[in-house]
Amino acid sequence: MSRGLETPPVLASIGTVLIDIFEPQSAASLGTSSAVSSWAASSSGRTDSAPLGCSSTGELHPSMPCPTSSLPLPLLASPSALVSFSDLHPKVPSSTPLISSSLPTSASFSSSPSEISPSPRKAPQIEAVGEIPLGGRMVIGGGAMYAIVGARVWLPPIALRTIIDRSPGRRRVEGEAQGGVTAAPPGSLPARENPDEFDDLPRELEEELLSYGPNMWVFNRVPGGRVPRARIGYNGAVRSYAHIIKPVPRTALDLAHGPLFGAEYLHVSPPFSSSDLLNLLSDLPSSWNPKVVFEPAPSSCHPAGRRAFEAAAQRVHALSPNHEELLSLYDRPVLEEEGEIRKVVEEIVAYLLGLGVPVVAVRCGASGACIGTVEGLRWVPSFFEGEQHRVRDVTGAGNAFIGGYIAGLRLTGDPYTAALYGMVSASFVIEQLGPPSLSVSTDGELWNGDSAQHRLAALSERVPWA
Ligand SMILES: Nc1ncnc2c1ncn2[C@@H]1O[C@H](COP(=O)(O)OP(=O)(O)O)[C@@H](O)[C@H]1O
Ligand SMILES: [Mg+2]
Repeated sequence: MSRGLETPPVLASIGTVLIDIFEPQSAASLGTSSAVSSWAASSSGRTDSAPLGCSSTGELHPSMPCPTSSLPLPLLASPSALVSFSDLHPKVPSSTPLISSSLPTSASFSSSPSEISPSPRKAPQIEAVGEIPLGGRMVIGGGAMYAIVGARVWLPPIALRTIIDRSPGRRRVEGEAQGGVTAAPPGSLPARENPDEFDDLPRELEEELLSYGPNMWVFNRVPGGRVPRARIGYNGAVRSYAHIIKPVPRTALDLAHGPLFGAEYLHVSPPFSSSDLLNLLSDLPSSWNPKVVFEPAPSSCHPAGRRAFEAAAQRVHALSPNHEELLSLYDRPVLEEEGEIRKVVEEIVAYLLGLGVPVVAVRCGASGACIGTVEGLRWVPSFFEGEQHRVRDVTGAGNAFIGGYIAGLRLTGDPYTAALYGMVSASFVIEQLGPPSLSVSTDGELWNGDSAQHRLAALSERVPWA
């Protein structure tokens, strides 16, 4: 086992860590919060999975508009420089000491057909099969990254862990990696002879990841392995999202033999659907019984996926869809009015609690979150309630909320108070584009130059029960 990985983490996340590539125009449009906010008001804000109404195989529903076709050309390199997805994901005989040899190929990523929505309600974000753009602004993204950073606001690096697929890379072969943990596949060739020697995680992005601390990110370097990538563009308020390199989901065997084994909390997020989660849990070794916090893939949140969702719900410690996903699962119309949203969310949360789910935490964007347990339902306000001008980009907000929520559960043992931690973590993610910055002052760690403890105290004053 590599240095620093001997002790199981408090939180292991098996969502994605990927590189989001914003096409040039969208990077500019992100400077104004209006485009992002109007998109944010009607979509999940997550970048790590197929959106509602789109298949996770990347096919567009025929009735959808196709903003990707109007993406400006500068995003793409000359045809000779384009690499198709299949070129980059050959079927790999995996031989890593970190992840078991059952590492699936991209083909196993799709949700089951019954979980792919036949009739999308709306498509604020669309997905299409893409190619590798060489231009654009690269930003680290992904559900696991945001969840781990959201938890990092409260917990030390040693308590947190996720796995990042990555090309073998020159530095891996030469053993130069620092901070993050890497493993050299046995029998790998010297760097100069290795056809896979390029490193597909740019140094500045790696440094950004490592700025949160050592050993949180375990680099899974296998032949053919790649950091997942997605291309993001905006056409007005409509966001287009194209996987360039799809994430490879973890299997139970991966977990049983890898560095996430033994974690107290297991955060399962997109690309996992409810069925994927059920399969995963049924294969986990009986020696590990993590508290699972499930954030279902948006593409599986529609009425046809409800049965699997409810079956999965009964196997988890905490369930956290956002309100759009919940309404879609229960075939409710899209609601805009806050009072109506609250009423329906409360009704469905009460129903889920009746099924035996210990904790339901529904994220509701600007309206905060509804937390339900057998003790009752409580609403927790967003940290930026009534301050939309402070909301710059909601990408990753839900994931960061969940990471902060799990940290709060660990630190307080209280499912309602934990939501305050989640709200503060989300606030650090949404006040700028990309993940927040961490610095250290004489007063301790600061996020975007501010104190998490101060924000927690300020938010606590706004809720009567805290
Ligand atoms: N527009 C917004 N205004 C204020 N806070 C927001 C906004 N969008 C998200 N948040 C904060 O981020 C949290 C998670 O975002 P949410 O939209 O609920 O989940 P998701 O990102 O999965 O759609 C919210 O509970 C809230 O604290
Ligand atoms: Mg949202």
